Amino acid sequence: MSVEEDDARRLDQADPGHRELFHVPPAEGGRYAEVAYLAGNSLGLQPKATRAELLEDLDAWAALGVEAHLDAKRPWLPYHEPLTGPASRLIGALPGETVIMNSLTVNLHLLMVSFYRPAGARTRVVIEDNAFPSDSYAVRSHVRFRGLDPDFDVVRVPAAEIPEFLSHSGGSVALVLLGGVNYLTGELLDIPGITALGQSRGAIVGWDLAHAAGNVPLRMHDWSADFAAWCSYKYLNAGPGALAGAFIHERHLDAPSIQRFEGWWSTDPETRFEMAPISRPLPKAETWAISNPPIFSMGPVRTSLDIFDQVGIDNLRMRSLRLTGYLESLLDGFDTFDIVTPRDPERRGCQLSLRVPGGAGALSRRLRFEHGVIADSREPDILRVAPVPLYNTFHDCWRVADALRQVPWDLP
Ligand SMILES: Cc1ncc(COP(=O)(O)O)c(C=O)c1O
Repeated sequence: MSVEEDDARRLDQADPGHRELFHVPPAEGGRYAEVAYLAGNSLGLQPKATRAELLEDLDAWAALGVEAHLDAKRPWLPYHEPLTGPASRLIGALPGETVIMNSLTVNLHLLMVSFYRPAGARTRVVIEDNAFPSDSYAVRSHVRFRGLDPDFDVVRVPAAEIPEFLSHSGGSVALVLLGGVNYLTGELLDIPGITALGQSRGAIVGWDLAHAAGNVPLRMHDWSADFAAWCSYKYLNAGPGALAGAFIHERHLDAPSIQRFEGWWSTDPETRFEMAPISRPLPKAETWAISNPPIFSMGPVRTSLDIFDQVGIDNLRMRSLRLTGYLESLLDGFDTFDIVTPRDPERRGCQLSLRVPGGAGALSRRLRFEHGVIADSREPDILRVAPVPLYNTFHDCWRVADALRQVPWDLP
């Protein structure tokens, strides 16, 4: 074992994280039993508790049929209710301000139904120039749906220029919709500052927290964001395509001016089964839910949120700063790529993005097949490595650096 590898092992002993709660995929051959999994920014690992809890819900269906709505150990009718507490703690919201439902892009559309209200000269939506494509497609199609022109009304602004753009052109902006942590660069935007600036210029400000939820501490209520949405399959480890979340600031919850699409899950649960033709919404984010929720998809979200509740996002952030700082110190010595993520730890989450001349796809395949290191690439030249503080180790970080040292850089 090299001195550096030995150091990584010692750091792990002093600062072990919670890897034991997760299934880490085995490595195929090589020196190590498990892969070095640095792709939790794409799909988080499976908590060991998920399988048993999912089976319990399946067993309730087998044993009780429809009666499980009321009689299961975790009755299905109010199944979603205990999720709002931990989800709210995770993103810094009041319990009534969050709801777990649908998937992320669907939630963005539903929130735009409520919060994109073009009027007069104020018609534009601001997104980052490197927004995740789904957000761009959602915004463009939504603008088109309102009879406006996406080529004019959707403005893509580089992250660094957003404050200046809002200061000068904010009067034409109806909605600012940005990623809290950018998926490509790993940059953490100034959520409170941009929210305040956008709102001071008369715009609604919403956030896509796909790469922020479970990654960095958030205070969405105190920062006064109008709305937010996030997915649960990245840092929240709730499985592929897991149910997403939505946040709506309390000031909007019973504002008569806010429109939304409703279904029977939008009405007051106390009167839901009166089968009345007109809904009676409560002033809660739950009112944005439309259909009865998929129980077997809620279980993994609950299991995941329990872990965050136990460990605490502030503790995780402290470990995250140590892990990512360590990885950065190992990668600093390379002249074969640039780190494009901000160097200030306060301006990033756990992910480091490397710009790799010659392409990142071939490199990520070599890392995987030759070194058991799972990182992901975004075409053409970004390799993303995300040490996740719940389950990654300092040794995982060392393995990334060691593998990058060994790959032949002159090969495609
Ligand atoms: C920032 C961001 N927005 C939106 C999406 C799309 O999410 P979904 O397919 O769950 O709607 C993703 C997926 O990775 C993402 O990273």
